[in-house]
Amino acid sequence: MTTPDDTFPHEVDGGPFRVDAYDALPSTNDRARDLAAAGASDVVVIADRQTAGRGRQDREWVSPPGGIWLSLLVRPDLRGDRVPLLTFAAAVAVVEAVGLVGVDAGIKWPNDVLVETDGGERKLGGILTEASMVDGSLEWAVVGVGLNANVDVDALPAGSTSLGGLVGAVDRTAVTESFLTAFDRLRDDPEATLSAWRRDAVTIGRNVRVTTGSGSVEGIATGVDDAGRLLVDTGDGVEPVAAGDCEHLRPA
Ligand code: BTN
Repeated sequence: MTTPDDTFPHEVDGGPFRVDAYDALPSTNDRARDLAAAGASDVVVIADRQTAGRGRQDREWVSPPGGIWLSLLVRPDLRGDRVPLLTFAAAVAVVEAVGLVGVDAGIKWPNDVLVETDGGERKLGGILTEASMVDGSLEWAVVGVGLNANVDVDALPAGSTSLGGLVGAVDRTAVTESFLTAFDRLRDDPEATLSAWRRDAVTIGRNVRVTTGSGSVEGIATGVDDAGRLLVDTGDGVEPVAAGDCEHLRPA
């Protein structure tokens, strides 16, 4: 019997995005970057598995068959410093899409989609946004989304989980289409993105340590500004952090 999931990703309706679908690719972000260099826009590259999936900070992203591994190539009219809001829009869209299959997820700044389990917070997905800037404006962005969908938890790095592990196998075509609809609604609307992100974020109000390229910042995360920078109250003032690895610390 053929189930909707067997055909994934070949029958995804991308709505406004042209779908470029593969059984396997090294990395959907790399394919989307090639399409950007060729002048394309509004394309979603989707693969059933990746052989060289990439995470933030040059980490490997484990991408076995059964996941949702996709990259959106977009060219929105966005100030350079607001590019992180595309990552936020994708994170919110993932939370909405998994909510429709009964999974209550939250967002850890800047890009992790987490679920709270008996064993603590587990990573369900992540986002890797890569962009080209010209004179301080965005030329194109590739928003890469990894969502552990119908993947055995044992095949994933420690601290991860999957939709399959949480609620059983899902229809990846439907989840992807829900995600694309939500992302399309938010991608040109920074204010709606920020307010939805603040609603879904699990970092705000937490004690955090953010490791940046130049050191680390520790304190209470009090919010994000309109460029998506995390505001950390260190006790000596509020420091805006543009990028880094964020750890949720236990309350002192
Ligand atoms: C992270 O949390 O470190 C970000 C992970 C992003 C992974 C996705 S999977 C689809 C796209 N292609 C890649 O090679 N990476 C992103």
